[in-house]
Amino acid sequence: MEVREFVTHSVEETEALGRAFAKELRPGDVVALRGTLGAGKTAFVRGIAAQLAPQASVSSPTFAIMNEYRGEVPLFHFDLYRIGDPEELDGIGFEEFFEKPGVMLIEWSERVQQLLPPHTIVVTLQNPGFDDTRRITVEGGRPS
Ligand SMILES: Nc1ncnc2c1ncn2[C@@H]1O[C@H](COP(=O)(O)OP(=O)(O)OP(=O)(O)O)[C@@H](O)[C@H]1O
Ligand SMILES: [Mg+2]
Repeated sequence: MEVREFVTHSVEETEALGRAFAKELRPGDVVALRGTLGAGKTAFVRGIAAQLAPQASVSSPTFAIMNEYRGEVPLFHFDLYRIGDPEELDGIGFEEFFEKPGVMLIEWSERVQQLLPPHTIVVTLQNPGFDDTRRITVEGGRPS
């Protein structure tokens, strides 16, 4: 599977990358974001939302677990940082979102690795140094 690799040097560049990436997204897509605290996952999501749901104001749904942004395509933004066991997600019907005609954006997707469908697009953000450089890879998705 093809892996695309990018390097950004500011939060604005990461948002712009998210915005460009969003043009490829279709209802039913699942985007799993991987990366440590402060890697830029929410910044990337903000870029996606700027493209597909420009009226929405993106905030990390740490307490709500999921925020929905209405736009051209509905966005379901999850933050699973506080999830200990994937079973905790049964109550919100997490897996039912895979079938909905929107796009799922999942921060801390590492927590639910085994639940993700085969067509998941995996976006990995790394902060390799002590500066604003971020290495971002995009892989997977539906075969084109
Ligand atoms: N190239 C860059 N891309 C994105 N963010 C950057 C970059 N350089 C510096 N930053 C800073 O890193 C932080 C990224 O924060 P963000 O909330 O997007 O991370 P996160 O991965 O969602 O973290 P969390 O795990 O807490 O949800 C911001 O403070 C941002 O200003
Ligand atoms: Mg975040």
